[in-house]
Order: sequence, then structure tokens, then C-alpha cells
Amino acid sequence: MKDLAWGIAATGVIAGKVGAVIAAEPGMRVAAVGSRDLGRARAMASALGAESAHGSYAELCADPGVDVVYVATPHAQHLEVAEAAIAAGKAVLCEKPLAASVADAERMVRLAREAGVFLMEAMWTRFNPLIQRVAADPRFGEIRSVQASFGFKAPYDPAHRLWAPELGGGALLDLGIYPFGLAQLLLGMPSRLHVTGSLAPSGVDAEAGGVLVYPGGRRALVECSLLGSYANDARVVGTGMRAHIKAPFWAPEQVVLSGPSMETEELVLDPADNGYAGELREVRDAIAEGRTESAIMPLDESLAMMGLLADAREQLS
Ligand SMILES: NC(=O)c1ccc[n+]([C@@H]2O[C@H](COP(=O)([O-])OP(=O)(O)OC[C@H]3O[C@@H](n4cnc5c(N)ncnc54)[C@H](OP(=O)(O)O)[C@@H]3O)[C@@H](O)[C@H]2O)c1
Repeated sequence: MKDLAWGIAATGVIAGKVGAVIAAEPGMRVAAVGSRDLGRARAMASALGAESAHGSYAELCADPGVDVVYVATPHAQHLEVAEAAIAAGKAVLCEKPLAASVADAERMVRLAREAGVFLMEAMWTRFNPLIQRVAADPRFGEIRSVQASFGFKAPYDPAHRLWAPELGGGALLDLGIYPFGLAQLLLGMPSRLHVTGSLAPSGVDAEAGGVLVYPGGRRALVECSLLGSYANDARVVGTGMRAHIKAPFWAPEQVVLSGPSMETEELVLDPADNGYAGELREVRDAIAEGRTESAIMPLDESLAMMGLLADAREQLS
């Protein structure tokens, strides 16, 4: 079987990191890089061993040598690239969050489903082997509580994508998606949420925290912030056992399990697993098997998360 040929859209921080993992992973290769600037595309293509470089995302998406487009632009620019890729019949792995608005995310999913092409949000936490072990461990019993935070102090710069509304900025979409996403993975969708926080001068949310309420009083306490450094770990408490997912909980290397009737157990990530490989293998396998969605990160769950984050943002205004 021939290697899966990736086209990488953008040359920023995550494009470079994930591109290096694609280049090292068996069964796949970086075939092309696309950028708004041909020079940047050429530089990254050369670094990743790709044969083609394109000076626009449209050219990348039209490249017949590309099987799947990895969208690594800022959130508000995801839809434009994904739409071009889907129109060209390419599979798409789109960085988190799927888009900057619910409407954009719904459009992306609808177009992919109509075209019958593979689409997945690159929510890499769901592919971390330790997170997968926590999510599947029956010893938790009924999970009563999830607590998770993701916060760091980001210097205020209205031109940076974290703070710029036109690039989809804000703590919730960039960071909140991880603690809210852990709650979604372990508890499902809440029946209510109560969120507080503050806005930046640019109008994006600078911080948000609150409680997600589930039937029977189960709950998740979640926080995200661009204003201060948080513990960035997570705690999961079930009726049978609890877990401390050490920082960074969204890509953990260590989890400690403990409970009243068990020896404390430490789970340690295999150092050979660099975190992004799992999501890339899922894309490779899904395409090989003719699947158009991932059961690990289903599109309906990505859409539900977009709605939840929008509801949270609404409570800040
Ligand atoms: N999974 C993860 O671990 C992870 C980590 C970080 C970020 N992300 C996600 O990945 C996406 C990109 O984040 P990043 O940190 O890589 O951002 P970044 O370093 O700012 O890079 C974004 C890239 O997007 C392209 N771009 C297209 N339109 C743009 C515009 N109007 N303004 C600025 N850049 C534009 C640029 O590439 P060209 O100049 O080459 O066109 C730029 O280099 C975001 O959606 C973010 O949520 C995921």
C-alpha cells in the first residue's frame, strides 16, 4: 500500500511540530506544504522532505499528489482551507477547534458529509494512550467529578492569534476546549453550565471558569486563562477510584490512580509516543478502511463542543 500523502496548510508553530511527526511516522509522508508565502512553504517543505511547495492554500488543496490536507491555520481560517480541500475531494484533519464559530463548524461538517470525504478535528488528547486508559477503566465506577485547568500568562498583543477576534482568539476556543473536552469525554454533555470570567480589551475572552452540571449532581469544574499560570493538571473522582492526571493533562506523561481498596498505581507514557502520532494513525487507518469519520473523535462531538464553548462565551458578555 502506498504511503498516505499529506499536504500541510500553514507554516506556523503546530504545522511544524505535527509535520515533523508525519515525516517520521511509518505509512505516511509530507508530500506538499502550502502557505500564503511561497518562500515559507519552500522552507518548510525542504525541512520536512516534501517534494512540493505552494504559495497559496488553494494550490495546495488542488495538488493531485496530496491525499489529505492538515489544516493548521488560526481557527477563523480553518473553514476556508477545509472547504477548498473538501471541494477537491481530499480528506481533512483540521486543528482544534474545528472553526471559530458554530456556523462555520456546521458548514464544514455538512460539506464533508455531502462530499463523502474524511474529516476529523485534531483533538490529540483523545489519542493519548494514558487518557484512553483512564476513559476505559471500569474501576472508576461512576465518575462523580472531573476537575481540569489550562492557563498560562500570555502577554497581551491584540495582533496575536490568541487575542485577535479576527483570528478566532480567546481562552475558551484555544485552551478551554481541553478541560471542557476532558469533561465531555468522561461525562458527556452537561445539562447546564455556569461560567464566569473576563474579556480582554480586544473583546475576546481572557479567562473563563465554571461548573458543568450533569444529571444526578455529577459535575466538572473547568478553568482556562490567558491571564495566569494554572496547575494544568486534572483530577477524576469516581465511586471506585480516582485519578490524578499530571500536567499537562491534555498530553499527559503520568497518571496516578488510587482508591480505598487498591494499591496506588502509576501509569507512565511510553516515551516513543510523542502525542501527535495517534491522531495521524487514526487518519491513515480511517482512509485505508474507507471510513469518513473517526469513532474516537466523532464530528457530532466536535460540533457539540463548539456549541458548549459558544454557550460559555455567551455567559461572559
Ligand atoms: N494540537 C495542538 O497541540 C495545537 C497547538 C497549538 C495550536 N493548535 C491549533 O493550531 C492552529 C494554529 O496554531 P499555531 O499555534 O500554529 O498558530 P501560528 O503559529 O500563529 O501559525 C498559524 C499559521 O497560519 C497561517 N495563517 C493563515 N492565515 C493567517 C492569518 N490571517 N494570520 C496569521 N496566520 C495565518 C500562517 O501560515 P502561513 O504564513 O504559512 O500562511 C501561520 O504561520 C490553531 O487553530 C490552534 O488552536 C493546536
